[in-house]
Amino acid sequence: MAKFKRIAVLTSGGDAPGMNAAIRAVVRSSLSVGIKVTGIVRGYDGLVNGKFKDMTSRKVSNIIHKGGTILKSARSDAFRTKDGRYLAYRNLVEEGIEALIVIGGDGTFTGARVFSEEYDFPVVGIPGTIDNDLYGTDMTIGFDTALNTVVEAVDKIRDTASAHERLFFVEVMGRDAGFIALRSGIATGAEAVFIPEVHTELENFEKYLTTGESKLKSSNIVIVAEGDESGGAFKLADKVKEKFPQYEMRVTILGHIQRGGSPSAYDRYIASRLGVAAVDALLDDQRSIMVGLKHKEIVHIPLSQTIKHHKEADKNLMDLIKTLNF
Ligand code: F6P
Repeated sequence: MAKFKRIAVLTSGGDAPGMNAAIRAVVRSSLSVGIKVTGIVRGYDGLVNGKFKDMTSRKVSNIIHKGGTILKSARSDAFRTKDGRYLAYRNLVEEGIEALIVIGGDGTFTGARVFSEEYDFPVVGIPGTIDNDLYGTDMTIGFDTALNTVVEAVDKIRDTASAHERLFFVEVMGRDAGFIALRSGIATGAEAVFIPEVHTELENFEKYLTTGESKLKSSNIVIVAEGDESGGAFKLADKVKEKFPQYEMRVTILGHIQRGGSPSAYDRYIASRLGVAAVDALLDDQRSIMVGLKHKEIVHIPLSQTIKHHKEADKNLMDLIKTLNF
């Protein structure tokens, strides 16, 4: 006899490629042990308003390769209030739902933790955000696909930067983390990368421009994390233009294309593993934890830890960029 008769799953926060693969894995692994699954539509907003739909195996057919989330996502002010969370709890109980799996980022887990403790309700989180900024897991679902999107875009920008011998500032997402910028900077051979975690980059970059080395290059690409202290690519370009008017510059903001697209093989793979791991964790009496990956192994991190701690960027990678651009 399965521990639960019915559980629910929702997606919340910024969508990420691979969320559908995770939903599919949660549904299929639950059904395989006789547990029914309710899909909650529009995240916590749907939970507060009782937007539920039964998730059969067929409902998750042919979605593993689709970006976005079939359960939609939405921000919810109501869920931030006690009254809103009470409505959510009442809806779950009336629907016969005995546990909840939430797929999202730190904002999602903050709400999940409060709710889980307020109602002693089993909740397990799956890390789904392109930012890869969640403490306790090496990778979040969507990060790899977003990286591939950035690399494809920057490769195209480098063609025109080279044709016109221009200096390009390309802004990437990450909210207040530099993981997309850092890893895509290495993968694209960017001449410089600006991230919130490192504060010395402008001096180094100005030195590079001053020595004239940059002029020897047919193109110069600078990747800027949107949360960088410079205020982003446009502001950084303005600062550099003041000191180096001799350089012809352009700015490209990649924006929400980084959130879309068919998930990469890697994101489909980790989403499938983490979806099954979340159901296994509930069956193992775990609650108020996030399932994650550490050195390819599944790990459990208390939600309180993944919210509290900040995931450090590997500053050695900044040196790697300088070494490879020598
Ligand atoms: O958290 C994912 C993310 O894409 C961030 O990288 C970005 O800053 C934010 O969401 C954008 O949020 P919205 O889609 O609400 O504009």
